[in-house]
Amino acid sequence: MKGDSKAAYLHFTSNNTIYGTEWFTEPRPPTVPLVCDASSDALSRPLDVSKYGLIYAGAQKNWAGGVTLVILRRDPVGPAAPGFPRCSITACWPRTNRSTNTPPCFAIYVVGLVLPLAARPRRPREIERRNVAKAESLYRAIDQSGGFYHGHARPESRSR
Ligand SMILES: Cc1ncc(COP(=O)(O)O)c(C=O)c1O
Repeated sequence: MKGDSKAAYLHFTSNNTIYGTEWFTEPRPPTVPLVCDASSDALSRPLDVSKYGLIYAGAQKNWAGGVTLVILRRDPVGPAAPGFPRCSITACWPRTNRSTNTPPCFAIYVVGLVLPLAARPRRPREIERRNVAKAESLYRAIDQSGGFYHGHARPESRSR
């Protein structure tokens, strides 16, 4: 992938709900941190977070509404630009370690129930296996509908 040599980061959306497309490998930025909106496929398969500078995901898709997952490598966090909103996580959280608004307690509680289940040994692979099976079943129905339905994405990029 060609990138802008002056770019501060490379952003991609690992799954695009609207177009039904998904990246199954990361684009590789040569030097800049990789930033990903993983809102619609977080926890749907194993993910090597060490490849990323920042992953964020609105948890409402897959595991708990009302919270946003942020996985941030500390080194890409620079000083905030003047006038940047104080509640921005990259701007203030790593330094102050303080929450600047009222946390959604119930949503955080649900995350606390879901994450230990998803993090069990072999569980991410099992979740992926089930997602692949469900997707294959759905795309088979689309492809065998005799033209009644048309798949939008190229088969190798089809969202699970
Ligand atoms: C990758 C991604 N990010 C963000 C959003 C926005 O989520 P919501 O519509 O729940 O605000 C979507 C919605 O489909 C999405 O697929």
